[in-house]
Amino acid sequence: MLSRTDYEHETGAMKKNIVLLPGDGIGPEVTRAAAAVLRECAREFSHQFEFQELPVGGAAIDAKGTPLPKETLDACRKADAVFLGAVGGPKWDSLPVGKRPESGLLDLRKGLGLYVNVRPVKLLEPLRGISPLKPERLGELDLEIVRELAGGMYFGERGQTTENGAERAWDTESYSTPEIERVATFAYERAEHRRRRICSVDKANVLASSQLWRRTVTALNAVYPAIHLEHMYVDNAAMQLTLRPSQFDVMLTTNMFGDILSDAAAALAGSIGLIPSASFGSSAPLFEPIHGSAPSLAGKDSANPIGAILSAAMMLRDAFGLGLEADWVEQSVSRVLAGGFRTPDIAESNGRNIGASGFMEMLHEEMQRTLEHAERYGWGV
Ligand code: NAD
Ligand code: IPM
Ligand code: MN
Repeated sequence: MLSRTDYEHETGAMKKNIVLLPGDGIGPEVTRAAAAVLRECAREFSHQFEFQELPVGGAAIDAKGTPLPKETLDACRKADAVFLGAVGGPKWDSLPVGKRPESGLLDLRKGLGLYVNVRPVKLLEPLRGISPLKPERLGELDLEIVRELAGGMYFGERGQTTENGAERAWDTESYSTPEIERVATFAYERAEHRRRRICSVDKANVLASSQLWRRTVTALNAVYPAIHLEHMYVDNAAMQLTLRPSQFDVMLTTNMFGDILSDAAAALAGSIGLIPSASFGSSAPLFEPIHGSAPSLAGKDSANPIGAILSAAMMLRDAFGLGLEADWVEQSVSRVLAGGFRTPDIAESNGRNIGASGFMEMLHEEMQRTLEHAERYGWGV
């Protein structure tokens, strides 16, 4: 393995513009944690990361009267990568669909052309005991949910009316072949680098859009014959996740089903606060933990920053090609957990239970320790 100095010499330092969108609730806390890790990475590996922080969601409604101000979207379009904390909260819950903080996030995904969202759900070994599943059922939990992000019911035709004095409202699930093909292609490529299995999740026994989904995903299998493709109805998939999650490698699914299944899968790892995500499309990629703004935790030093930190690691690897730096971050997180340190959501009776800021201190120390070790003995030793 290369020493860090050789590595810098060979690969050169990187200059990147990163937009930070802290958002609401615990969003700003976890964004600070992710940014601290990125800054430490820039410092130690001589990269130049420039950060620009902008409002989105409820914070943007309060400051600018809209959940996605034009300056925010414009800056994101020009960025090398975007990091988002979380949006939403009780303060804005009475606003109509379209004006809420959550619409800011949907408009951002749409505005950046982000059509795919990857959510890796992997057991962090020191947390095996936190999982609600017995160890023998949990097995080697290591799956990726590939969620369609720019279509389906989130963006279909919707409306409301009053008929004979009764209100009616509707949302429509709709997919075209090209929309399915582009996200399925991403899933096949992803599976090529993993265990070469895709489980495509739909409701083709009821929905026309799911029948098209299933046909399209099946046809594309001809281009990727080495990938083993299986189809599963979403109700069964929810059950199988709980019964035997280790059967899954890549789960490919729609916007709506992916949202629901990823929270369920997150629980298996021990907490939704642990799970990162990355979204890709026609302009800057977006990295965000999968959890929401958790309003009851905001300002209490209790929000688990790991999902946000692992999202930053995905930024390093998947947006900037900085695999070594990403490994450094991920391994340091695992080592802090192996040392028994736990935020409240993953607290254990025999654990060293600490707050989020305590966790960040331990992580900083661990990252430094890993660097010193690598300077002496090389990486991966
Ligand atoms: P949530 O993810 O905020 O919280 C669900 C549960 O998980 C809560 O018990 C919460 O305390 C816990 N939790 C979440 N993140 C955690 C963390 N980092 N550490 C420890 N515990 C954590 O979902 P919700 O309660 O359904 O929604 C709250 C608000 O967040 C809503 O306004 C919703 O629309 C919004 N939301 C935003 C996003 C996003 O911005 N990407 C995602 C989901 C929900
Ligand atoms: C998520 C969230 C969002 C979604 C909301 C806040 C719009 O739940 O990222 O999982 O449904 O996509
Ligand atoms: Mn969600």
